[in-house]
Amino acid sequence: MAVKLAIHGGPRTIEVGRIQPWPPIDDTDRQFVLKSLESHRPSFGPNCEALQEEFATWNGNRFAIATNSGTAALHMGVAACGCGAGDEVIVPAYSWSSSVTCVLHHNAIPIFVDIDWETMNLDVDRIEEAITPRTKAILVVHLHGLVAPMDKILAIAEKHGLKVIEDACQAHGARYKGKKAGTWGHCAAFSCNHNKLMCAGDGGLFVTDDPAIHAQAQMLWSFGETRTPVQDRDYHAYALGWMYRMNDLTAAFGRAQLAKLQSYLDQIQENVAVLQEGLKGVSHLILPTVPDYCQHNWYNYVLRFDMQSLGHEEHPRAFRDRIVRALGAEGIPTSAWQQFILPAMTVFQARNAYGRGCPWECRSSSQADYSPDLFPVSQKHCETHTCLVMALRPPNGTDIARLLAQGIRKVMENVAQLED
Ligand SMILES: Cc1ncc(COP(=O)(O)O)c(C=O)c1O
Repeated sequence: MAVKLAIHGGPRTIEVGRIQPWPPIDDTDRQFVLKSLESHRPSFGPNCEALQEEFATWNGNRFAIATNSGTAALHMGVAACGCGAGDEVIVPAYSWSSSVTCVLHHNAIPIFVDIDWETMNLDVDRIEEAITPRTKAILVVHLHGLVAPMDKILAIAEKHGLKVIEDACQAHGARYKGKKAGTWGHCAAFSCNHNKLMCAGDGGLFVTDDPAIHAQAQMLWSFGETRTPVQDRDYHAYALGWMYRMNDLTAAFGRAQLAKLQSYLDQIQENVAVLQEGLKGVSHLILPTVPDYCQHNWYNYVLRFDMQSLGHEEHPRAFRDRIVRALGAEGIPTSAWQQFILPAMTVFQARNAYGRGCPWECRSSSQADYSPDLFPVSQKHCETHTCLVMALRPPNGTDIARLLAQGIRKVMENVAQLED
């Protein structure tokens, strides 16, 4: 018998206040942050240095630099890999905006490649057709916490003499063939903003194993200087630099969260296993696929709706939004992540990042084609997905995961109630 959906006045699946906020805060966080406050070194202080060492060790990198955002760390990667005015960088057509605007920050030109429908990551089979004599690097995003096929990407890069920058902002602890995100390319960027699995409020980490790349990145990070604030500074700008340093309070919070990161990752695996079990056989739903050599960190659990079987292929976005509202009424907090594919965003369509057509016309008169129609897979993904994010994370456990599955099942089994 049909059950009345909560959006139409039926009972909610998950009562208000049952899902706990992210991230869990306990005495570890309080002690780290209070100690930092009392150290009277609030700018780049002892916690920043300690976080760099601890994160490099945790992730398996030689160097880490603590930044004030993941975007800053990405920009450092673009610059440190030698990408400059008029150079082209291969990027995915679907990601967070700054996965690509970081390329513009250094006057280089993003060249979009469509994503693969199954993994939602860069379609490896389309990379080579986008390479030109101007290509300098591939910026690969490990979207939603699933590492892209790095062995294939590195082989293409090596064949064409390109650098590889990993956007691992969402990929803390995710692995490909046993090896962690951020240890494959020439360098990588992690984010520590509120949503991220290692939250520090805001902030980021740049990592590399290459001393030359590390030195270049460090100059960009702190005013073009060659020494860190704790070294004997000469205050000389040796190159163009920004101010991308993390502060000590943020680093203290980040250290406390890093100490708990593995336990979070383990709990999320358990929660997702319960969710997936509960979603078995639900119609009109396309669940994420994980290649068996990948370990997903489930930063975003992405649900996609089969708009063909739902009869809404013509206007998928409107019906997806209706389902998302119905899920919300059940107490299931999902939201569509990126609503637009990147090439369709105004900054790319207007080709005017710095004014006077720069960087597209500054030096090189780039012909890069940003027609949205060239990226049909990214477009379809944009219009048919929604994401479960915080509700699958601790302190929420498998009891919540079970309820999430029940509520999603309820909406999808009664989806006819959402028709006009
Ligand atoms: C894939 C991806 N890249 C880059 C970023 C930028 O990170 P931040 O917000 O720390 O600058 C984010 C953050 O939302 C992201 O999800």
